[in-house]
Amino acid sequence: MSVASSIQSTVQSTVTDFPAARSSHPPATAPPAPPPAQLPEAIDALRRERNAVILAHYYQDDAIQDIADVIGDSLELARRAASTEADVIVFCGVHFMAETAKILNPGRIVVLPDLAAGCSLADACPADEFAAFRARHSDHIVVSYINCSAAVKAQSDLICTSSNAVQLVQQLPKDRPILFAPDANLGRWVARQSGRELTLWPGSCIVHETFSEQALLELRLEHPEAEVIAHPECQQQLLDLADFIGSTSKLLQRAQTSEAPAFIVLTEPGILHQMQRRVPEKAFYPVPGSDGCSCNACPYMRLNTLEKLWHCLATLEPRIELDEELRLRALAPIERMLAMSA
Ligand code: 13P
Ligand code: SF4
Repeated sequence: MSVASSIQSTVQSTVTDFPAARSSHPPATAPPAPPPAQLPEAIDALRRERNAVILAHYYQDDAIQDIADVIGDSLELARRAASTEADVIVFCGVHFMAETAKILNPGRIVVLPDLAAGCSLADACPADEFAAFRARHSDHIVVSYINCSAAVKAQSDLICTSSNAVQLVQQLPKDRPILFAPDANLGRWVARQSGRELTLWPGSCIVHETFSEQALLELRLEHPEAEVIAHPECQQQLLDLADFIGSTSKLLQRAQTSEAPAFIVLTEPGILHQMQRRVPEKAFYPVPGSDGCSCNACPYMRLNTLEKLWHCLATLEPRIELDEELRLRALAPIERMLAMSA
């Protein structure tokens, strides 16, 4: 039986919510970190001592990206977490990403520099409300974006990321309706791209839903030579103005392969660091949020700092821990994703 058709017979799991712990880090009792100038060297020494791998998302501060072993989008980071042989995974990203790494690696220590690094999409989809929604659509295949809690993953038939969502939805049986959660903007884009109708959970990302359309139009007038590239978490009216839409890694690839000399970038501006490094001769313009904020940085991603990264290598805290029964239920739809997008 193919992976896609096995979804047909997935047994609907019972729901137990195991909310993730939330706390700030480092605690008052933590050892003092070295001075800022010595942090990169100190982190490097600890990484070797601990046999640790540092995985970082493109939305992390430049200094964290520069010290990471692997920089990637959600799919690449999940794949690297699945294949690592390190004893310790330091996840410089947000909670659902580190939790995914722990689901794939129950025997390894997984630390997140700041446990309060959550995600508005994961928060917008409480497991008990999702269970009720799912129960109202019991004939649907449940596809959840990786930006959700383990308790929501455990209720899903298949996990996807923005890199593989269209490809995965296209593989699903045509005679079954599909429920997609928690990002409605991504869901609408996937529906248009795949030609499948999706029943959407009404969640959104606080960063991508607040880009200013007015500022985008002004930037386009100012830089007519620039291509507009956008993450599919953006609202429809902004996606309609984009020349290219894709996950963070696909936007980075586009910046490298397109003939355009400049890009107006509709995603979190952390990605600009890699764009500027890989094609320094090109120009990149971030789009501000409608509140006038010039950067529109993700407030969760930016909680991680080099100092907190040093602390979590020094103390191996704060750790991601998961109830084993929940982990196993969340693992199945992640493994399906990895198999179907291999
Ligand atoms: P990517 O998988 O495209 O990196 O997206 C992750 C994310 O959180 C976007 O806001
Ligand atoms: Fe979540 Fe949005 Fe931040 Fe991505 S940018 S981690 S979706 S809040």
